[in-house]
Amino acid sequence: MKLTVNIDHIATLRNARGEFEPDPVHAALIAEKAGADGIVCHLREDRRHIKDEDVFKLRESISTKLDLEMAAVPKIINIARKVKPELATIVPERRKELTTEGGLDLQKNKNSLKRAIELLHEKEIKVSLFVDPVKYNVEIAKEINADMIEIHTGKYAEAKSKKEKLKHLHMIRETAKYGKEIGLGVNAGHGLNYTNIFPIVRVKDIDEVSIGYAIIVRAVYVGLENAVREMKNIIKRKLK
Ligand code: PXP
Repeated sequence: MKLTVNIDHIATLRNARGEFEPDPVHAALIAEKAGADGIVCHLREDRRHIKDEDVFKLRESISTKLDLEMAAVPKIINIARKVKPELATIVPERRKELTTEGGLDLQKNKNSLKRAIELLHEKEIKVSLFVDPVKYNVEIAKEINADMIEIHTGKYAEAKSKKEKLKHLHMIRETAKYGKEIGLGVNAGHGLNYTNIFPIVRVKDIDEVSIGYAIIVRAVYVGLENAVREMKNIIKRKLK
């Protein structure tokens, strides 16, 4: 399983003072040095953390791969087509949310998503769709030519009881398995941390996890390089 590190909150901190530090590009390079397999950033329509120039600089500077999280709206699609990240992960976006709150409604947005995928494919950008762990999402993702899905792990992460956690884990496992069976790549992310990652690491059909908040929080205590390395070691199953 691979680890991609989301650096949005480095930009959140930078923007808090309107200064240049901490620099998301510098952070991305540290994350790569510590073993990150890719860097994720979300260019939100309100630009609350990552700005356009960050994305272009990241594109030039990182040596792993860039996963651009984005809403399927024309202005952002145009930027993605210029940046040409290795992967574009399409997410639903609501202005007032603190963070992405759920997966895409693929049924409702099928046609617009299909068009967005075509536009990104024209520039040889692979496309992942952020979805809740239900099988029909996998079917629609395949039908509209997505290359992969990212399974939303938020409900699993937030589950209060063990029973509820196991239910969500089961749904994640089944969705990942089905995704693989029909030929899609399978990522997972949202709300994953140094504790709840362990059962996810055992889901063999997940190729990659995308983690932001927990790593940046840990970095405050132990430094970014250590924080990424610790997570990478869990994912490589070096720690039990
Ligand atoms: N994957 C997607 C699609 C997201 O929107 C986010 C949040 O930006 C993440 C993964 C990372 O979530 P977290 O910051 O909770 O690790």
